[in-house]
Amino acid sequence: AEVVIVPDAAAGGAVVADEIVRLIRANPATVLGLATGSTPLPVYEALPPRLVGVDVSQVRGFALDEYVGLDVSHPESYRSVIHREVVEPLGLDPSRVNVPNGAALGIQHAGDDYEAAILAAGGIDLQILGIGTDGHIGFNEPGSSFASLTRVKTLTQQTRIDNARFFDAVDEVPMHCITQGLGTILRAGHLVLLAFGERKADAVAGAVEGPVTASLPGSAIQLHPHATVVVDEAAASRLR
Ligand code: F6R
Repeated sequence: AEVVIVPDAAAGGAVVADEIVRLIRANPATVLGLATGSTPLPVYEALPPRLVGVDVSQVRGFALDEYVGLDVSHPESYRSVIHREVVEPLGLDPSRVNVPNGAALGIQHAGDDYEAAILAAGGIDLQILGIGTDGHIGFNEPGSSFASLTRVKTLTQQTRIDNARFFDAVDEVPMHCITQGLGTILRAGHLVLLAFGERKADAVAGAVEGPVTASLPGSAIQLHPHATVVVDEAAASRLR
């Protein structure tokens, strides 16, 4: 992967936002893969001023993942988060932005439906990724198959603890999720993995320089011909 070291998260957000605007100007029907969590926020915050005068009416978006068993109206469902942090501030057409369906009803088909929707859109052009402290991308926890497609997974206790800050207590973090697979992610045209802070340094080093192994799902990016890693000095500190 190409590693870009930036002074801070805001600078990383600006670099990635510039690339997204370049893509949309070249192709107004660009398909974006959207991560949630804290890491991509500087990207989403850098976009609105850059998109003034840019036609985003054709842009499509596909979220990476969703909790299972959390009502979609819950403020921390990824459907709610994507609408609040991406669709509204960027002025995207909500009908063109998809989030996997984590509702219990129809969950057996939700993964296949999502894969079909991505294919029908022509595939994801640029996939934004964060990385978990346990090395997950999307919610592909350690042990996930590199060929996996969108499906239901169980969150590790580490991930539930990491995400407890969005809820009142760790017990309220759902146990399950539906996530794009590593195979889904590897089909995107360009992977852009962001990581900021010392907490991510081990996962970044493993993903970029470690062995390619299902034990560290982020290492799947080494199999992709066009992967960019945007990190601050702290997140880059364990790279050789
Ligand atoms: C979010 C996602 C996760 C996060 C990761 C890092 O859609 O798929 O892989 O990117 O858990 O989370 P933050 O950015 O909150 O540290």
